[in-house]
Amino acid sequence: MVVTDDDAPGTDTGATADPQAAIDEASGDRRTSRPQGFTAGDTPEGIPFIGAGPGDPGLLTVTGRELCEAADLVVHAGSLVNSELLEAYCADAETVSSIGKDLEELIPLMRDAYEAGQTVVRLHSGDPAIYGAALEQMDALASEGVPAYFVPGVTSAFAASATLRTQLTLNGVANHVAFTRPQGKTLDPEEDHIGDFVGMGDVTTCIYLGTHAVSETMDRLLEAGHDPETPVTVVYHASWPDEDVIEGTIGSIGEKIEEAGYRASALVIIGEAVGEAGYDRSYLYDGWASRGPDSDGTDDAVQEADD
Ligand SMILES: C[S@@+](CC[C@H](N)C(=O)[O-])C[C@H]1O[C@@H](n2cnc3c(N)ncnc32)[C@H](O)[C@@H]1O
Repeated sequence: MVVTDDDAPGTDTGATADPQAAIDEASGDRRTSRPQGFTAGDTPEGIPFIGAGPGDPGLLTVTGRELCEAADLVVHAGSLVNSELLEAYCADAETVSSIGKDLEELIPLMRDAYEAGQTVVRLHSGDPAIYGAALEQMDALASEGVPAYFVPGVTSAFAASATLRTQLTLNGVANHVAFTRPQGKTLDPEEDHIGDFVGMGDVTTCIYLGTHAVSETMDRLLEAGHDPETPVTVVYHASWPDEDVIEGTIGSIGEKIEEAGYRASALVIIGEAVGEAGYDRSYLYDGWASRGPDSDGTDDAVQEADD
C-alpha cells in the first residue's frame, strides 16, 4: 500500500517486508499483545509514531518535540507536516517524506535505521489515530522485531474548533461529534454515513479527506432532503500561516470552495456548533456539580467535570 497524506491505495512492490501478513497476524491478538505497563506519554524503546499536530509548530506536544529533537531519522507525512516544524525541531535529523512510498519501502527504511542504532521517529499529521494509517506500519515493524508506540497529537478538528472559537460539543445544540470521511476510493457509498450524522441534528460532523469533494458531498445531502440552511464551515490549513475559513451552508458551501480552489488540506464541519444557534449553559457551573453524586449513586459529577 502507498502511504500518502490522503491515504490513497496503491500497488504492492514486493520488497522484503510482508506488511499484510503482519497486519493479519497482529489482528488476532491486538488486546493480548498490548505492551504491559505502557501508557500514553511514555517513551519506551522503539519507534514513536508521533502526532505532529495540525501544522503550527507550537501545537506539537512536549514529548513529541523532545523525541524529534533527539532523532537521527524523521520520516514524516509530507505536505501536512509543516516544514517550519521540521526546521524548528528536526534540524539535526535526516528527514524523509513518506509521500509516494509504499509500506514495502517504508518499513525496511525505518527498521534498518533502527537496527543500525539510529534514533528513528515517525511523524504523522494531526493525531496518528485519525485517518493516519499508522497501525499497519507499527504492526509491520513489530513483525520485524522493531517495537513502535503512539505519541498523540492535536487532530485538525481541534485546531479548527479553536480557530472558529467554538466547541464541537455544545449543550443543547451539538451533543455528539463524528469524525468521518466521504465516499471515494477507500469508502463505498454504503459506508458513507455523513447523511446519517447530519440527519441526527445534534451531531457536529467533521469531514476529513473531503476537500476535493465538498460539492458532491453537499449535493448528496441536498438530494437526501437535508436542510440547505444547515451551517457548514471549511477550515483550510488550520493553524498554518495561510489558514483560511470559508463559511456557508449545505446549499452554498460547494460553490464557495470551488471558487476558492481548495482541493485538499481542509476540514469540513457541518452542524449548529459552527453556526449561530444559541446553546444552553452547562450543568457544571450552575452548582449542580458541587451538590455531589447523582441520586442513583453514580459519580457523574466527576465524570462531567470537563463539560
Ligand atoms: C490523512 S488525513 C490525516 C488527519 C490527521 N491525522 C489529523 O488528525 O488531523 C488528512 C486530512 O486531515 C485534514 N487535515 C489535516 N491537517 C489539517 C489542517 N491543518 N487543517 C485542516 N484540515 C487538516 C484534511 O481533511 C486532510 O485531508
